Amino acid sequence: MPISIRSIPSCSNATEKPLRPGTTGNAEHAPTRPVSAGSSVPAGPRPLLSVQDVVVRFGGVVALGGVSFDVWQDEICGLIGPNGSGKTTCFNCISGIYQFERGDILFDGRSIRGVAGHKIARSGIGRTFQNIALFDSMSARDNVLVGAYPLGRTGFLRNAFRLPPVQEEEAQARNRANDLVELLELEAIAGTRAGSLPFGTRKRIELARALVTNPKLLLLDEPAAGLNHTEVSELATLIGRIRRYFRVTIVLVEHHMSLVMRVSDRVVALEFGIKIAEGLPVQVRSDPEVIRAYLGDIMDAPAA
Ligand SMILES: Nc1ncnc2c1ncn2[C@@H]1O[C@H](COP(=O)(O)OP(=O)(O)OP(=O)(O)O)[C@@H](O)[C@H]1O
Ligand SMILES: [Mg+2]
Repeated sequence: MPISIRSIPSCSNATEKPLRPGTTGNAEHAPTRPVSAGSSVPAGPRPLLSVQDVVVRFGGVVALGGVSFDVWQDEICGLIGPNGSGKTTCFNCISGIYQFERGDILFDGRSIRGVAGHKIARSGIGRTFQNIALFDSMSARDNVLVGAYPLGRTGFLRNAFRLPPVQEEEAQARNRANDLVELLELEAIAGTRAGSLPFGTRKRIELARALVTNPKLLLLDEPAAGLNHTEVSELATLIGRIRRYFRVTIVLVEHHMSLVMRVSDRVVALEFGIKIAEGLPVQVRSDPEVIRAYLGDIMDAPAA
């Protein structure tokens, strides 16, 4: 069944807008923000996300050693790097799971340093996890619905007595969840226990759950892991459509280089917690430091 993105009336920022093709390295999924001539840095007043000199250490391990990069409204920014280079740590800092010891992260111009994870989610950052984090005993639909929890604004007492604002809020959340279930083609299995579903389907449930809060920024941590070639290609199309339809800015962590290069407008590359390259996909793909980092991975890999 084709993705019926027209059937999502309850998503408030879900207005399809004309895209300006050819303004970045990726015409197929071009964002609306123009890129300055001859530069990989988009023109404009301020980035939606600004990671500034962030340092995270675990004992003697420097997971992030002063990483800085910006992500602009409507962009898809690929975040790549060999295993252990700090990609997930970076996501965990942006979503408030990890605290960083130095630097700052600005979202929409405001620092999120020290802000609790649920407040960050409420401010407009959604994410998926590298290791799928679903409630296995709950249905697929309920797993999506549970993602709307951070949006709740009715407070403890109103909730305890189930006053009308609570019922209204629940109805809105249910509508959003149903729309996402339809968009991501989960209707046939919506009532099935999440734990019994195949890996690729579970990934789509997580994606739907991340979108149910209608985020401004979506962090995807290896959404293609475990998918076959056809599924990866379908995911690339889906990511582009999600960005356009929801006008959501996306940071994509992936090891599938074909996917990253196809959907990203810009790419940031990390190695051992340090940024080693940043630019248009075509620039980063041919960057000697990036090639060395990945080839080093292959050379170091034990023989099968
Ligand atoms: N909670 C933690 N406790 C201790 N060390 C951690 C923790 N989280 C991350 N690390 C370490 O920080 C470094 C960066 O890890 P991270 O998971 O961010 O890498 P990654 O780029 O996401 O790797 P992968 O591609 O394998 O997912 C690694 O050396 C990792 O072992
Ligand atoms: Mg990771």
